[in-house]
Parts: sequence; structure tokens; C-alpha cells
Amino acid sequence: MNKITIAIDGFSSTGKSTIAKQVANHLGYVYVDSGAMYRAVTLYAMNQGLIAEDYFDVKTLNDKLSEIKVSFKFNKGLGFAEVYLNDKNVEKTIRSLEVSRFVSKVAAISAVRKKLVAIQREIGKSKGVVMDGRDIGTVVFPDAELKIFMTASPETRAKRRYNELINRGDNVVYESVLKNVQERDYIDSNRKDSPLVKADDAIEIDNSDLSLEEQFEKVLELVRKTLEIK
Ligand code: DC
Repeated sequence: MNKITIAIDGFSSTGKSTIAKQVANHLGYVYVDSGAMYRAVTLYAMNQGLIAEDYFDVKTLNDKLSEIKVSFKFNKGLGFAEVYLNDKNVEKTIRSLEVSRFVSKVAAISAVRKKLVAIQREIGKSKGVVMDGRDIGTVVFPDAELKIFMTASPETRAKRRYNELINRGDNVVYESVLKNVQERDYIDSNRKDSPLVKADDAIEIDNSDLSLEEQFEKVLELVRKTLEIK
């Protein structure tokens, strides 16, 4: 069976990664969470004291980009690849609300995007990949055979994200999570370099009222159709 590239883009907390992981496992494809890569660079900037509320030393971050290694290693137990920053597993640390607060600013820097897009293309060069993000169908793999654009209302997404953070033991309030979701929507959609837009040939799935199983079935159906016409 021929392997294809599946690009899943959409706003934050639309549940892209959950579905992308399931689909990748089902097909025996590689799953790549491109957002995790932007989060890892953000964590680096935070650790180096380059970013804080009302402060961002873009120049030093640009100068230090060559010192940042972002990679993935498959975790058999979890069934997906975890992200590493300079060979340290940061999969859990990068999910904090703190990192979420700064990541859109870091993701707006062109040199950061250039570096990470190159890594993403390298990972996906042999196809058989499901990658989720914001610009996968528009910039990273404009020739992807299947492009999906996930949407859901900001409130639905904030609720999901809030539950996720509470379940992992973080002390957060729903209003802050909603505010963060709305701010990220705005910055991600309005940045100059590779803003979040639906590719013309992407298929939109609004999952506000869809269960995980329904979403999974929907995506698999699209994969089947794509493979048939390929
Ligand atoms: O998917 P996520 O919420 O973990 O992504 C974190 C941030 O990274 C998000 O606010 C926007 C940015 N991002 C991006 O600009 N391009 C991508 N391909 C993936 C994520």
C-alpha cells in the first residue's frame, strides 16, 4: 500500500494530536506533534531567561538557535514519540500553562520557524507521516495527499484544555485557560510568517459535538478515500 502524508492543522486544543496519534498508530505511520517542537524552543528561551511577561530577547534567541536541538524518541509504553530538548525528555514540561503563555510569541519568529520546518520536512520526507500543527498543509507539506483542518469553539477547547491540566495536577482556573486559548488564536492567525489559515484543499472537521471515536472514524474514512483515488 502506498504511503501518504497526512497534515492536520487547526486552532489550539482542538484535539488534533489525540486523533493524529490514533490514526498514525492504526496506519503504522509516524506521528509528529509539531507544536511540541515550538514548545521545546520556548522552554529553552524560558530556561535561558530570554522570555518573560513583557520581555523577549529575540536577538539572543536567534543567535542561540544553532545550540538548540529538538528531536523525538519513540516511547513504546506510550505508543508515540516524545519530544527532547538537547537530548533531555521535555514531553511533560512543555505542556504547562507557562509555556503555553509564551509559545505563540516564539512561534512567530521566522528563524525559529525555518529551523523547525526543516526538521519537520526531513522527518516526513519518506511519507507515512501524520503531522499536526498550524502550517503543515500550507507551508511544511503543501503537497500532502490529505489535509484536515480541525475546529471547535474557543469555549469547548478551553474546557478540554482545562480538564487536561487539572488531571495532570496543575493548579489553574478556567478563565485563564480560555484567555490563553483566545490570545493564541489571535497571535497564531495574525502573525506575518505562516499564519494559521485553512489550506484551500483542506477538509474542515468541526469536532465540538463529535466523540473521539466519531472523529477517528471520520478521519479514517478520508484516509481510505484518499488512498483509493491516489
Ligand atoms: O499545538 P500546540 O498548541 O501545542 O502548539 C503550540 C504553539 O505552537 C501554538 O500556539 C502555535 C505554534 N505552532 C505553530 O506556529 N506552528 C505549528 N506547526 C505548530 C504549532
